Amino acid sequence: MNPFVIAPSILSADFARLGDEVKNVIAAGADWVHFDVMDNHYVPNLTIGPLVCEALRPHTQAPIDVHLMVRPVDRIIPDFAKAGANIITVHPEGTDHLDRTLGLIKDQGCQAGIVLNPATSIDWMDHVMDKLDVVLLMSVNPGFGGQSFIPQTLVKIAEVRRRIDAHVAAGGKSIRLEVDGGIKPSNIAEVARAGADSFVAGSAIFGKPNYKAVIDEMRAELAKVRA
Ligand code: DX5
Ligand code: ZN
Repeated sequence: MNPFVIAPSILSADFARLGDEVKNVIAAGADWVHFDVMDNHYVPNLTIGPLVCEALRPHTQAPIDVHLMVRPVDRIIPDFAKAGANIITVHPEGTDHLDRTLGLIKDQGCQAGIVLNPATSIDWMDHVMDKLDVVLLMSVNPGFGGQSFIPQTLVKIAEVRRRIDAHVAAGGKSIRLEVDGGIKPSNIAEVARAGADSFVAGSAIFGKPNYKAVIDEMRAELAKVRA
């Protein structure tokens, strides 16, 4: 597994030039494309759906990491799988039957994950560990880019890391620990030190003219954590 994954959120990209934005950010050294889906119901904003995912798919070989902020969520999952999503993550509040929803994602041939809001308990992960490829911790309340990192998330990251390590030590497969919201070069090392291995960043990357400069700076910060 690639030790550290950087996943730019296209929420902060130029939507009129999305294909080029994705190509450019991957060429600048990013690993995944983070694709934020908002329904103006579960979260107070409306973004993009499977049509846009399908349109982007030919523009990159990088994994597309679809974050569904949608309730109810099940109906739209097969559409994203068909549109070329590689990873699909869902909020437990978006479904009445989380285990079934994760099974649906896996049945569609995608990697599956749960997303936990700042006030959502991490206990949600305990009974579905075997179906998880990713745990995504929100470090802001979902709905908008450009918010500030909530420091209390560091405590949650450390606890989720402990549970994942225990799961792996007991013979379970590895699970990525992704963090989303307010990540930038100045805090990415602290987030990695707490135990995260995958980092979503929207405004910190797409808000700057030189994507490679920001991603290089993030990698340099992450290299300090490894050292
Ligand atoms: C928020 C989204 C995030 C957001 C991150 O609901 O899930 O992915 O775009 O944006 P920044 O990095 O600007 O906080
Ligand atoms: Zn997101």
